[in-house]
Order: sequence, then C-alpha cells, then structure tokens
Amino acid sequence: MVKINSNYNKLAAGYLFPEIAKRTKLFLEANPGVTVMKLGIGNTTEVLVPSVIEGLKKGVEKLAKLDTYTGYGDEQGNTALREAIAKEYAKLGVSIDPSEVFVSDGAKPDSGNIQSIFSSDAVIAVQDPAYPVYVDTNVIAGRTGENENGLYKGIVYMPCNEENNFFPEVPNKKVDLIYLCSPNNPTGAVATKEQLQSFVDYAIKNKAVIIFDSAYSAFIIDNSIPKSIFEIEDAKKCAIEINSFSKSAGFTGVRLGWSIVPKDIVVEDSEAGKINALWNRRQCTFFNGASNIVQDGGLAALSEQGQKENQEIINYYMENARLIKEGLESVGLKCFGGVNAPYVWLKTPNGLTSWEFFDKLLNECHVVGTPGSGFGPGGEGYFRLSAFGHKENVEKAIASIKENLKL
Ligand SMILES: Cc1ncc(COP(=O)(O)O)c(C=O)c1O
Repeated sequence: MVKINSNYNKLAAGYLFPEIAKRTKLFLEANPGVTVMKLGIGNTTEVLVPSVIEGLKKGVEKLAKLDTYTGYGDEQGNTALREAIAKEYAKLGVSIDPSEVFVSDGAKPDSGNIQSIFSSDAVIAVQDPAYPVYVDTNVIAGRTGENENGLYKGIVYMPCNEENNFFPEVPNKKVDLIYLCSPNNPTGAVATKEQLQSFVDYAIKNKAVIIFDSAYSAFIIDNSIPKSIFEIEDAKKCAIEINSFSKSAGFTGVRLGWSIVPKDIVVEDSEAGKINALWNRRQCTFFNGASNIVQDGGLAALSEQGQKENQEIINYYMENARLIKEGLESVGLKCFGGVNAPYVWLKTPNGLTSWEFFDKLLNECHVVGTPGSGFGPGGEGYFRLSAFGHKENVEKAIASIKENLKL
C-alpha cells in the first residue's frame, strides 16, 4: 500500500498568498464597487522590451524552418546563453566557466531543487524572515522536525532585524547548507562585502555550502554592494549562486533562470568537481532543458541593447519603490529596503501584528500588501510592499495611505 510523503503534513497550514487572496476577496464581496490597489505580490507588470520580443520571435521562426529547427536541447542550456551568462560575471571581475552555468526554468525551481544533491542529514540555516521556498523544500525533503510556533525543529534560523540591518551574523554552531538572499525578499536589505566575506570564511572553515539567491541583483544601484557572491574572495570554493531573468527582464511568466555551480566547491566527502557533476546529473535526470524559444529571448535580454532597454524598466520599478518609501515615511511609518531592492519593508505601527496591519491597510486604504510574518517568525510586526506595479496604481495607493491611514 502506497503512503504519501508525510513531510508535506508538516508544512505550516495556509500558504501566505492564498490567504491574502481570500481576505481580499471577502473584503471585495463586503464592499462592492471598491477597487483595491495591490502592492502585495512581487510579480512584474511592465511589458517585455522590444529586443526581447525580437529574440523570442527569432526563436519561434527558427522552429518554422527545417534547417533551423531544434528539438531537445542540452539539459544545461544552450552554449551561447551559457557563454553570455559567464560574460556577465566577467564584467564583475569574476571568472566563471560556461560549464559551471546551468540554465533553468527559473530561480524558484533551482532554489527548491538544489537541496536534493546534499545529504538528507544536512543541517540547514536560513535567514529569518526569508523567501519561503528554502525552508519548505527542506521540510518536504525530511530535513526538519515538526513546526512549533512557526519554527521547524532542526533548522537553524538566523535572525534578521533592525539591530543587524536585516542581514544576519554567521551561525554560532556548525551548519551544512546556508541560504542567503541579497537583495533580500522580503526585507529589501543588501549584504555588504564584509558581511558576505564572513559567511564565505565560515563556510570554508566548516565545509559548508552557501546557496546564494541573487534574483534581485539587477536592482542594486550602490556600487559597493556585491551583485554576486563570487565577488568575494574564495566564494567559488563554497557557494552556489542562483539567479533569474524574472525580475531583471520581466520573465516571470516566460520562465528562465540559471545556477552557477563552481567546480572548485569542496565538501566533507567529495573532491573538487563533484558538486558540479551532481547538479549536472540531477538536471539531466529530472529536467529536459529550458524552452529553446525562451533561451533566445534570454540571449536577447543579455545583448547590449536588451540590457539598456531593461534598465529603463528596472528604473521604473525603482521609482515606484522611492514613491512608496517616501510616501510611507511622510506619514511617520518606519521603512527599510527599497533602495537597492524592489521591496519596501515597513515596521507596523502601534505594535500591530503583520496580519492586523494587513486588515487595517485593506479596510482603511484599500491597499493590499504582504504580512511580514508570512516569511517566518522574524517577520512578525513588519509588512512588505512591492514596487512591481504600474506607477499610476502605486501613486493612487500611496495617496490613499496618506489620506486614509489612521495612526
Ligand atoms: C528571492 C527569490 N528567489 C527566486 C524567486 C523566483 O524566481 P523565478 O521566477 O526565476 O522562479 C523569487 C520570486 O519572487 C524570489 O523572491
């Protein structure tokens, strides 16, 4: 008799975004005719830039002719795209061999799947709060105990709070897999070179591996902030980096990302090259490569013109972030992030819980955001507003907050 993977039963009930949708729906049913302004989900809203549209069309047209048609491609991605991604790292002064680049259908699948190449007894450490995928996929894989008061037994939570500028200290005990995200979702915080160096030093000393999620690296404007963990000395010996075309080029629905798995990584029981070989094996077994059409779109996004065009969209979202942050601050709310990241993280006023503030913002201002507690217990008492949206919508939302929020 087959049984289910009972680890799924450990997952904390009620995923964040369905709960937000449920409360929003109930509000709209009770208040017909009211329009709500959504600054909740980190979903892109602006259309793909002309270069990318051309790239995608080229990909489609290639499939219409016998001499350019392709079927299955390389599981690791097209050579030209792997080389183009490696060249982006060269611009940062980082040497990545194209064989260390694995093209995928996004950063979410990669950040969820990567744990499968590590031992089932690996101890994981996560930032608290964090993008939920890191924790949930390790729960499903059986690396944790039950959830108690929002914390899974067996996970080492690294608190991110106002005192440490929302970037944690290295763990004070030995862990094996460390998830870091900078620029951070949900806090909008970025890690400095020194902070990342301390994690790299820790990882090398403890033969741990850092999974570095840099999905929002394109939003960094401060030149002193690393866009890649590989800008840190020796990071290639201990880190895997995951990135995406979703936020930098509007590919949230198109689907394309990549992971860099350096050959220099050494862990407790394996020699250099093994981690790269294992990820290759994993991808060849479970994945049949990203869409050939989409990869042509990705190549176009990395062209000089594509990057120029996409930078304008990034600037557009970052102008939204500025409007949100300044608007909230003008009514006396305490805000973080929103400078090198498309998320503004605000402290809920008057000691309200994250969900109490969600209801207040929805009822008084008709604005939907994301309760910080949905990202882990460390997010309680905070709230995330996303800069992904049409500027007019953001302006309306901020005007409504300024006019209607009762503090
Ligand atoms: C930190 C982080 N990583 C990864 C992703 C997902 O990226 P993708 O669309 O490439 O799967 C998101 C999406 O919101 C994210 O916030």
